[in-house]
Amino acid sequence: MAKIISLVNQKGGVGKTTTAINLAACLSVAEKKTLLIDLDPQGNASVGLGLDKTSFENSNIYHAIIGEVPITKAIYKTELPFLDVCPSDTNLVGAEIELVGALAREVKLKTCLKPILNDYEYILVDCPPSLGLLTINSLTASNGFIVPLQTEYFAMEGLAQLLKTVEMINSSINPGLELTGIVLTLFDTRNNLHKQVSEEIRHHFTGKVFNSVIPRNIKLSECPSFGKPIILYDIESKGSEAYLSLAKELILLERSGEKNLVVPPVMNTENNLENLQQT
Ligand SMILES: Nc1ncnc2c1ncn2[C@@H]1O[C@H](COP(=O)(O)OP(=O)(O)OP(=O)(O)O)[C@@H](O)[C@H]1O
Ligand SMILES: [Mg+2]
Repeated sequence: MAKIISLVNQKGGVGKTTTAINLAACLSVAEKKTLLIDLDPQGNASVGLGLDKTSFENSNIYHAIIGEVPITKAIYKTELPFLDVCPSDTNLVGAEIELVGALAREVKLKTCLKPILNDYEYILVDCPPSLGLLTINSLTASNGFIVPLQTEYFAMEGLAQLLKTVEMINSSINPGLELTGIVLTLFDTRNNLHKQVSEEIRHHFTGKVFNSVIPRNIKLSECPSFGKPIILYDIESKGSEAYLSLAKELILLERSGEKNLVVPPVMNTENNLENLQQT
């Protein structure tokens, strides 16, 4: 059965999509069959993985959620053999409105994923920057969630609001939903505030912050315009190293069956790709 993980943070521009694309790509090179669902009407994950918008305009996550097509018809292959994507476009804005009056509107995604749960090891869902109905659908369908967090001053404030929403979902429709981990993104080691906030978050969420930290890396911001994940764009980059390391941590966490991250830091290994494939 697939492990379903939402990439969620209602704050915009914190690295949700970058993490969704690159974590999914790195899991797939470890030969974990992975599906990335783009649940954001901006469609950034779809384009960032090289899909042409016209190729999926009639069959994407919007059509699957509203029940117009089966999910299998809304899944597309990527350049990586173990990675598929279920894209989205601006139509998805409509779903939020169309579903408002619908019965069991929170479980639409969960229901439409049922037929493919045995086809993947990981299903990652890239959420939009809000705690609206689409994000609620994602959290309702998920076993876990990863919070990409930019180590800025107000980071913790937004997190409290997100955790309150999760608590509500836990006590109503999805008691099994758990925080998989927080991943620090857009990190600048020379920035004192980043270091300070990072320490505070690690202190507050012991065992719940990935050791792998995603640095601010120009290659990571370039690769979506080439429709490639970082590992196909520049395998030598710091961004590649960081996401390979994150994928390894996630795989080891799953394998350990532990709730908390207990694995040692895995950054700066000599050959991360080889290292990950041997995991
Ligand atoms: N580690 C990084 N280094 C450099 N640039 C990055 C990094 N992570 C993300 N970016 C850039 O920052 C911008 C926002 O990132 P991204 O789209 O991943 O955030 P998001 O949380 O998905 O945003 P939204 O809330 O709008 O969906 C993008 O232009 C992306 O290329
Ligand atoms: Mg995004």
